[in-house]
Amino acid sequence: MSNKKILAVLFKGGEYNTPDLLGSAENALGLKEFFAKNGYSLVSTSDKGETIDEHIKDAEIVISTPFNPVYIDQKRIESAKNLKLLVTAGVGSDHIDLDYIQKSGRKISVLEVTGSNTTSVAEHAVLTILALIKNFIPAHESIKGDKWDIARTARDAYDLEGKTIATIGAGRIGYKILERLAPFNPKELLYYDYQPLNDELTSKVNAIRVDSIEELVSRADIITINAPLHSGTKGLVNKELLSKFKDGAYLVNTARGAICVAEDVAAALKSGKLSGYGGDVWFPQPPAADHPWRTMSNKYGDGNAMTPHVSGSNLNAQARYSAGVEQILTSYFTGKFDYRPQDIILLDGEYGTKSYGADKVKK
Ligand code: NAI
Repeated sequence: MSNKKILAVLFKGGEYNTPDLLGSAENALGLKEFFAKNGYSLVSTSDKGETIDEHIKDAEIVISTPFNPVYIDQKRIESAKNLKLLVTAGVGSDHIDLDYIQKSGRKISVLEVTGSNTTSVAEHAVLTILALIKNFIPAHESIKGDKWDIARTARDAYDLEGKTIATIGAGRIGYKILERLAPFNPKELLYYDYQPLNDELTSKVNAIRVDSIEELVSRADIITINAPLHSGTKGLVNKELLSKFKDGAYLVNTARGAICVAEDVAAALKSGKLSGYGGDVWFPQPPAADHPWRTMSNKYGDGNAMTPHVSGSNLNAQARYSAGVEQILTSYFTGKFDYRPQDIILLDGEYGTKSYGADKVKK
């Protein structure tokens, strides 16, 4: 068999598959003909087990997605003797062992479609903040019977205006969230990031940079997480950090599930330390049936605004990340390797972005 093989691991369209659902394994980003025209065979699947182990061995290119993530760990990379390019259809490549690729010295590149779903996620984060603070989901659920209970919802519902809102990570998504929140007239917009915003961006939203994460969480009524998952953010929001949050704060995480310790978040919600937690990212994905975030709630039985990992994969986002994958592969197939700089996570095994740890980038 030819070594010119692409392995694509995407989400399952199944009974809901339509031609518009470009991100499904069945539709393979709408790129089947494009792959064939360039002489590549394609294995497109949503299965993350044996199919991957079998086909990664001789694949030259692996396309994967954060929504149905296949964990491309050291063992799989070692078995992938022909591997040259890993493309993330979306944003966030933490399902790939990036540090191992760098250490291995292999000239494997990892690219993602930067910006393809940043608006989609920022909108979802704002939606989640509003849903929690307005107690919207329990209010909606309450109209399904014959009840009309204003107090049930109102006892735990507030305005966004006048609140202090903070983001951990002020990159593309974090900043878009700040932009969208500014018109709500918050008391303050805070951010924590080792890469400061420039003066123009700072003054546009009137954001205040805070030097330590502890200070950030102790000042904020609402915190949103928008940093990538890497060795410096894994388990960052744990029991200890949660103890420094303001009592009754809200936490929204559309970045990655493993940035939070699931049990610690559930306990904080139960105790009242957190009033609400929401987002669309879990670890692992899909989560087990008894994952605490499926059922956790605050003392009123409210405060849970979780969805499956869908914010960055609506139809607009799918169209953008499919086009972005085609652009990356055109650059690869033609041998020009003229990738957009912002899409490069690793180029020939070396970090091309500071987002996964500024210290990992060669000077
Ligand atoms: P970005 O690279 O533009 O921004 C990330 C920011 O986080 C950077 O400014 C970086 O300096 C900062 N950062 C990194 N480590 C940090 C730390 N320890 N503390 C504080 N800040 C830190 O990335 P973008 O586009 O904003 O995406 C952020 C993350 O959101 C992605 O890595 C991904 O995990 C997640 N995401 C989720 C999606 C979803 O569907 N829910 C879709 C797209 C992205």
